[in-house]
Amino acid sequence: MRIRQHVNPNLLHFEQFRGELPPLDGRPVEVEIGCADAQFLFERAVADSSRLYVGLEIREEWCTTVNKRAKEIAAPVHAVFCHAQLHMGLIFAPGSIERVYVNFPDPWFKRRHQERRMVDPVLADQIALAVRAGAEVFVQTDVWDIALDAMATFDGDDRFVNAAGDWSFWRQGNPYGVRSWREQNAEATGLPIWRMLYRRR
Ligand SMILES: C[S@@+](CC[C@H](N)C(=O)[O-])C[C@H]1O[C@@H](n2cnc3c(N)ncnc32)[C@H](O)[C@@H]1O
Repeated sequence: MRIRQHVNPNLLHFEQFRGELPPLDGRPVEVEIGCADAQFLFERAVADSSRLYVGLEIREEWCTTVNKRAKEIAAPVHAVFCHAQLHMGLIFAPGSIERVYVNFPDPWFKRRHQERRMVDPVLADQIALAVRAGAEVFVQTDVWDIALDAMATFDGDDRFVNAAGDWSFWRQGNPYGVRSWREQNAEATGLPIWRMLYRRR
């Protein structure tokens, strides 16, 4: 299947929610925003199958692929076709998410594409509303500008506490024992990875 590399999230096409809601049934929920192939979530599901792993993804083809695979291997993983900033509040009840991962967010790292960045105050607001108190929000990227923007967004929001100390990167590696596809590639090619770990107050 051909999967487009990039989509422009500012298109009107993405405004209306047309995704399929995940089977929320009281299990603790972990969410990856911009999950693509959801490698990270499938590996989390192997590590702990008692939870539900929801990927939010703006490329519909990825959601179809992920949900097909989840069904085939009976994994508790579900991808939702959506625009995360616009639709998180429709998908999740307030305070219902246990943990959020933002792994290598969006490829729009050039200055002229700044308005298309995935991590922005709107997304932080959606996350702050949807997660429970004490929930972890983990962000990692190999793009310096995106790392700085993400830090400015979360450190600048009083609802989040930086687990590494104010305005500091998390230097103890990925604490979850699984890797996303981009993370695996960045490590294989020796790219630096900037990580941040926040907790919801
Ligand atoms: C660079 S990929 C990283 C994929 C995966 N997290 C990984 O680390 O391998 C970023 C993903 O975020 C998705 N994305 C970008 N903006 C989004 C948005 N507003 N809502 C949901 N997904 C988005 C893109 O379609 C893409 O699949």
